[in-house]
Amino acid sequence: MNRVVVTGPASQALGQRVANLLGVPVVPTEFKSFPDGEDYARLLVEEEGSLAGVEAVVVQSCGPGRGAGASQNSRLFQMLMIVDALRRVGAERVRVVVPYLAYGRQDKVFRPGECKFAGLLVRLVREAGASELFTVDQHAPTVLEEAGIPATNLDPMPLLAAHCNEFDLRDPVVVAPDKGAVERSTAFARHLGGGARVEVFSKERDVVSGQIKMAGSLDVEGSDVVVADDIISTGGTMASAIRIAKESGAERAFAVCTHALLVGNAVTNLFGAGADQIVATDSIDSEFSVVTLAPLVADALR
Ligand code: R5P
Repeated sequence: MNRVVVTGPASQALGQRVANLLGVPVVPTEFKSFPDGEDYARLLVEEEGSLAGVEAVVVQSCGPGRGAGASQNSRLFQMLMIVDALRRVGAERVRVVVPYLAYGRQDKVFRPGECKFAGLLVRLVREAGASELFTVDQHAPTVLEEAGIPATNLDPMPLLAAHCNEFDLRDPVVVAPDKGAVERSTAFARHLGGGARVEVFSKERDVVSGQIKMAGSLDVEGSDVVVADDIISTGGTMASAIRIAKESGAERAFAVCTHALLVGNAVTNLFGAGADQIVATDSIDSEFSVVTLAPLVADALR
């Protein structure tokens, strides 16, 4: 089956890298917002049946960006529109790669009356016409079971650890910023090698205000510390962990994440807390997105 890649506006670089690794063409697209705010997407094909019988790979992350058509919601809509359009122009198989699947943290009911939107979203991906879904470091991967199509959560920790190994870390300690990050941090430490230890914080988040409380100290005197998390959003979690690590005598502190949303003053907060570097994947484009997911995604698609 012939294969093509379609890159959404949020993942142009990653999508093209994946296409290069797979050795397949990229189908050009057009995206815009109408004056009333509605999103618009189009595959730039000559005829309706142009992609009959192909396997199409859609690459579109759904993190927040800047400007019109760059909100999570727009990016989700753009992705769904492209999947639907591909089916309509004849694609036989549509494999959807959404490195950052927004709303992943709304996977359960925290307060009465809430919607479990993460589950609804994966069902919508199937409903739009996807044959298969790939995400990366999904906040609560069990939600993928609701997709009703094969859905894979890719693990970027080996790639992030390989990058951090270039820093020549001294007596490395991997800090899990909360209990939910223990599994990820343990995997990260294993990939880091050199007998890296794992330390865990206890974090509490107020479900109404979103404020976090993190306390304690760490046994990291003279060590290089890596705090590994799935998402840096406001930077509150990561900055608290970095601050405590530095106050506990850490030599260098690396803020490592898969999805660098970096909203508001996150970058200032992280460096203000003492971070020496921020390292992220290109799940979301930022100046810190130095680790590409392309080989991971391409291997999964092969
Ligand atoms: C929460 O459980 C997540 O794993 C992240 O720690 C959290 O989403 C980060 O958010 P923020 O940067 O706003 O603290």
